[in-house]
Amino acid sequence: MVILEVENLTKIYVVGLLRKKEILAVNNISFRVSEKEFISLVGESGSGKTTTARMILRLLKPTSGSIRFQGRDVWSLKKMEDLKWYWRQVHGIFQDPFASYNPLYRIDRVLNQVFNLIGDIGADRESLIREALKEVGLRPDEVLGRYPHELSGGQRQRIMVARCYLLKPRLILADEPVSMIDASTRAGVLNLFSRLRDEYGTSVIFITHDLGLAYYVSDRIMIMYRGEIVEEGSPEEVMENPQHPYTRKLREDVPLLYRKWSGF
Ligand SMILES: Nc1ncnc2c1ncn2[C@@H]1O[C@H](COP(=O)(O)OP(=O)(O)OP(=O)(O)O)[C@@H](O)[C@H]1O
Ligand SMILES: [Mg+2]
Repeated sequence: MVILEVENLTKIYVVGLLRKKEILAVNNISFRVSEKEFISLVGESGSGKTTTARMILRLLKPTSGSIRFQGRDVWSLKKMEDLKWYWRQVHGIFQDPFASYNPLYRIDRVLNQVFNLIGDIGADRESLIREALKEVGLRPDEVLGRYPHELSGGQRQRIMVARCYLLKPRLILADEPVSMIDASTRAGVLNLFSRLRDEYGTSVIFITHDLGLAYYVSDRIMIMYRGEIVEEGSPEEVMENPQHPYTRKLREDVPLLYRKWSGF
């Protein structure tokens, strides 16, 4: 079942005060996401990945095009209760997790905020929070009383993933969610997404520069280049028979070790 439909989505940024200049960041892209699907959106820096994610999360207004989630036009949602419904179902994990924290809130408060979206669940919130922190490999007693700036970049990213674990959304938009996490923990965090998928039917849009990583974790890969989706297919199709020159270049950048293991 399709849960997200993106159609002809375009974003033009206008920059400059006197001499205005237009930047075509996302150019007429369309795609669908099904329940339980794990999609990787791969592309070089500046190709429009974060812009796409922010439009889907309803944080940045598209210049044109539409986004429908479970049949509802996302940008027509106006009432607070509808927005809460949406952000409960569709959750973002950002590239720079620092920007998404209130610097004055300790981590326990950051995580407690999740319950504003979930509502009263009649369970012991503190033990749920502790369980979520353990799931992402953090020690609750070490992090709960700290402020965001007192944590490392990787720890901040993991707190974002813990939030996601508490929310159990229908769709996760994860923008480079593991870029600051060391390789051993990275696999654990990605595994957590797979478990949410298996247990709750969650879909994932995973944004990354790393085609090798995308190959291992996804059901489908979309390659983004200069604001357009230039290629999409199963990981095998994209890796073994890349059609677009940019995909071929990306493939060459995948470390040789990955390629040796996988035989391409
Ligand atoms: N707020 C903004 N105002 C103007 N231009 C912007 C803004 N945000 C992004 N851009 C431009 O839009 C294009 C796409 O940016 P975007 O952040 O979506 O890329 P990205 O694929 O996420 O890159 P990265 O991998 O570096 O995170 C780039 O050319 C960028 O400079
Ligand atoms: Mg980005």
